[in-house]
Amino acid sequence: MISDMETEIIIETRELGKDYHDGDRVIHALRGVNLKIYRGEMVAIMGPSGSGKSTLLYVLGLLHPPTSGAYIFKGQNILEFSKEEQAHFRNRELGFVFQSCDLLANSTVFENLELPLIYAEADRNIRRGKILRALERVGLSHRVDHWSNRLSGGERQRAAIARALVNNPSLILGDEPTGQLDQKNTDIVVEQLRNIARQGFTVILVTHEDEIGSACDRILRIRDGILVSDGFVTRPVSSPVKAGPGSSVSIT
Ligand SMILES: Nc1ncnc2c1ncn2[C@@H]1O[C@H](COP(=O)(O)OP(=O)(O)O)[C@@H](O)[C@H]1O
Ligand SMILES: [Mg+2]
Repeated sequence: MISDMETEIIIETRELGKDYHDGDRVIHALRGVNLKIYRGEMVAIMGPSGSGKSTLLYVLGLLHPPTSGAYIFKGQNILEFSKEEQAHFRNRELGFVFQSCDLLANSTVFENLELPLIYAEADRNIRRGKILRALERVGLSHRVDHWSNRLSGGERQRAAIARALVNNPSLILGDEPTGQLDQKNTDIVVEQLRNIARQGFTVILVTHEDEIGSACDRILRIRDGILVSDGFVTRPVSSPVKAGPGSSVSIT
């Protein structure tokens, strides 16, 4: 039997649209995107440059307001929330990992991870435990009191993942999170994100790398703001992907 956790819909969009205005020109960056994403999935958003990948991620992250459509997050129509409620919701339910590492350089790893907890008004006496737990998830407990600018590139990005996890969010969003890493560190970061998805977090990544896409459970392909395909990645029998709706995409 499939448990509720495996089938829980985390987010759903209906006819989601986003226009940008550039002088007199209107850019239809997203056009009628319909999506359902389930708990524990690791999903790649792929497509050519300028196709709307980042826009989709930012709209899902409540960083950009959509122009049209509905966005349901764990059953709630979050576009109806006030700006303040959205900010609170974003802090509690969403974690972000960006391409360029945006850890505060003159602070320790601990201090960097403490900030989102302070914003979420977590008590001082429970913060350290949460920080250590998040670092443990990415194998970085031993770096808790290091200066963040002393970490290697891969460690920095793992610390950024830990920071995204520290409030125990429902959804982790990454825009090309390995875009500035070499192959070895890319592999480590992708493996960490896979681990996190196995632990029940839901991960959505923008990437242009096929190899990263094939490490995900599912690939959404977008072109000119339109979702042109949505398929599950098939793997050898030895590493089955859980069943779900959608067609299969073979990665060879
Ligand atoms: N802030 C903005 N103002 C105007 N146009 C934008 C803005 N952000 C993105 N766009 C345009 O929207 C389209 C989609 O951009 P984006 O989502 O960044 O694509 P991708 O991440 O796939 O490269 C592009 O045509 C881009 O030029
Ligand atoms: Mg982009």
